[in-house]
Amino acid sequence: MSVCVVVGAQWGDEGKGKITHLLAADYDVDVRYQGGTNAGHSVRVGGEDFRFHLLPSAILREGKLCIIANGVVVDPIGLAREIEGLRERGWLRAELVVASGAHLVLPYHKLLDRLEERLRGKDSIGTTGHGIGPAYSDKYDRSGLKVAHLLEPSVFRRRLEFNLKRINALLKGLYGEPELDPDQIYDQVMGAAESFLDLIRPVPPLMRRLLAEDREILLEGAQGTLLDIDYGTYPFVTSSHPVAGGACLGTGIAPNRIDRVIGVSKAYATRVGNGSFPTEQFGEVGELMRRAGNEYGTTTGRPRRCGWLDLVLLRYAAFINGCTELAITKLDVLDEFEEIKVCIAYRYEGEVVDEVDPDDTVLARCEPIYETLPGWHCETTGITEHSALPREVLDFIAFIEEQVGLPVTLLSVGPACEQSVFLAA
Ligand code: GDP
Ligand code: IMO
Ligand code: MG
Repeated sequence: MSVCVVVGAQWGDEGKGKITHLLAADYDVDVRYQGGTNAGHSVRVGGEDFRFHLLPSAILREGKLCIIANGVVVDPIGLAREIEGLRERGWLRAELVVASGAHLVLPYHKLLDRLEERLRGKDSIGTTGHGIGPAYSDKYDRSGLKVAHLLEPSVFRRRLEFNLKRINALLKGLYGEPELDPDQIYDQVMGAAESFLDLIRPVPPLMRRLLAEDREILLEGAQGTLLDIDYGTYPFVTSSHPVAGGACLGTGIAPNRIDRVIGVSKAYATRVGNGSFPTEQFGEVGELMRRAGNEYGTTTGRPRRCGWLDLVLLRYAAFINGCTELAITKLDVLDEFEEIKVCIAYRYEGEVVDEVDPDDTVLARCEPIYETLPGWHCETTGITEHSALPREVLDFIAFIEEQVGLPVTLLSVGPACEQSVFLAA
């Protein structure tokens, strides 16, 4: 039996969707543990492209069980759209379970997300506008509505009306916006929920059974370590726990059951939204990465900010998540580069440091110190065997392994499942 966490080791979009789908061939279950439709996980199978926001990435695999667990915030309208869209394409292959204990993202959360961002002005976070912050706020405020409430319409209705009293006062008083009508929200949400009502289950007993049956379980994170609410570049973070510890909270699986944690990192770095990014490249280098890597947001279409791989932050992610290994993605994006820079330390307040607290204000004052490695100047996208990798690629990987102190067990050289090279640990 193995319980394996797939965790983003950067600011999200590391390629978790592809890696999860790929690894799922050897697992029975794939569980999304946090986040909401802010996530966009891309998978390419048989020449077809899929983008998942709530559905676990193994959903394309026949015979697997996919679970949207308690730690996720579920937008019922988004989920219904995703399920229907995949069903229409004939690709809803795995069995799906939606946790009764997950909280809901309701239309007013999305509206509040956008209004709050507007109010923050130049201090805006650059959220996806998918209602994530307001939904998690309500959860911790204990005014949230859960997936289970969809099965109890009278409770849902009562709590919705109560919440709207406060929200409407805010909309009218602070934002000068029209008030929301409970009838309209009720109808819209209950209508959408029809497409997954029969998939709702309590997750803890299901997890207990799966563990008792020695099932192989993948826990799929959304976003990335540096977007974690407690361990990321606060306040430019998301409102949940992408880190591996969040997989325990989000699924009900205790820490001592997890035996494998794969940190997924690009061979360079990207970020969408605002906040510090010490190795960001504004000129030609960043442009080339964006073009070669098609670095535009999966959920919002925004151009991603691009820069060199930051090993100070990767070491941090390896520690925070207890990574047992790394998967390095998008190696092929660096194929054209003459030389490749890697940040190994920072100059911070006059000193050279190889470890920092990635609080946003701290990172903003860090100047990267780079090691320059030779490029490989050849196409790597077609490579599937370790033995076919150019010497410079092997040196680049060995350098990361040595600096981070972890083996790189998987190398991704293209968006498709088969564009992957497994490396011996
Ligand atoms: P996720 O959110 O971590 O699942 O990542 P996204 O799907 O948002 O972003 C990763 C993007 O890179 C997607 O468009 C993937 O199809 C693509 N991708 C993943 N791995 C590779 C790779 O090794 N090479 C290239 N060129 N693209 C990749
Ligand atoms: P996946 O799972 C990259 C970013 C947003 C913003 C910040 C807060 O595809 O890796 P939010 O809407 O969560 O309140 O926005 O977090 N962000 C992501 N960036 N990938 C994601 O998900 C992201 N989800 C949120 O751009 O900076
Ligand atoms: Mg993404």
